[in-house]
Amino acid sequence: MELIKVTEQHEPHVALIQLNRPKELNALNPQLMQEVRDALVALDKNEAVRVIIITGNELAFAAGADIKQMADKSAIDMLLLDQFTTWDQIRKTKKPIIAAVSGFALGGGCEFVMTCDMVIASETAKFGQPEIKIGTIPGAGGTQRLTKAVGKAKAMELILTGRFLSAEEAHFYGLVNKVVPKEMYLQEAFTLAKEIAQLSPVAVQLAKESINRSFETHLDEGLTLERKNFYLTFASADQKEGMKAFIEKRKPDFKGQ
Ligand code: CAA
Repeated sequence: MELIKVTEQHEPHVALIQLNRPKELNALNPQLMQEVRDALVALDKNEAVRVIIITGNELAFAAGADIKQMADKSAIDMLLLDQFTTWDQIRKTKKPIIAAVSGFALGGGCEFVMTCDMVIASETAKFGQPEIKIGTIPGAGGTQRLTKAVGKAKAMELILTGRFLSAEEAHFYGLVNKVVPKEMYLQEAFTLAKEIAQLSPVAVQLAKESINRSFETHLDEGLTLERKNFYLTFASADQKEGMKAFIEKRKPDFKGQ
């Protein structure tokens, strides 16, 4: 594992995955997500592990999918790469996953967090789907999960403007379980994980599956449409301009093409 760190027994029955591309604010490239996928498969099989915590660092949980790796891709490249299939393992993991978030959780980072089961946030956390500012749309569940979490009007505002939500606002809208001072977010995630880890792993797994079933009815259809539309934005000049402008650190000039 190069881009994540895994500690199988950080506490009894609690494993920790740390996303570890700090210079790129943990931008989620295909290699990192493949490592996350492999770690989740292994931890799900490991009988000693009952709860999984996923975290980043103080500055960022993750600032999104890796724009530099995607910028020049065509819609067909994106369709063939189908990079979000590895992400499906997050929602397929049977054991509970707690996201411990400090700093940026943007774009794919926010979608990653929303795919986890519970979220503990530092008061410095910032959530958002800013894809619109780089000429594309959320592609890893944002249009579906954010809408279910915060309601249609707020999801429209956040996704159509790319505005960020503070930790307090995210808590108000039910996107996170608890907000704590920045020195405590990981510790608080462990407190929650240890409480769950004392309970019957069988009952916990079945409860998780049942809750997700109520949440995910018809989700597959929504995710498929969103994924196709995300890939389709790569056929537009605006996506090329938006991502190029980000890399060149300038304001994009969108032409509607
Ligand atoms: N992809 C690739 N590199 C990224 C990145 C990303 N998503 N986010 C940040 N970085 C890189 C920056 O390019 C920069 O690298 P260099 O030092 O080599 O220039 C480094 O991380 C530090 O970032 P900044 O200098 O920009 O830091 P900042 O503090 O000024 O700004 C930020 C922080 C507001 C998070 C800003 O980095 C930003 O806007 N990032 C992009 C956010 C975004 O648009 N995310 C959505 C991506 S698309 C997506 O996720 C699709 C999907 O649905 C899956």
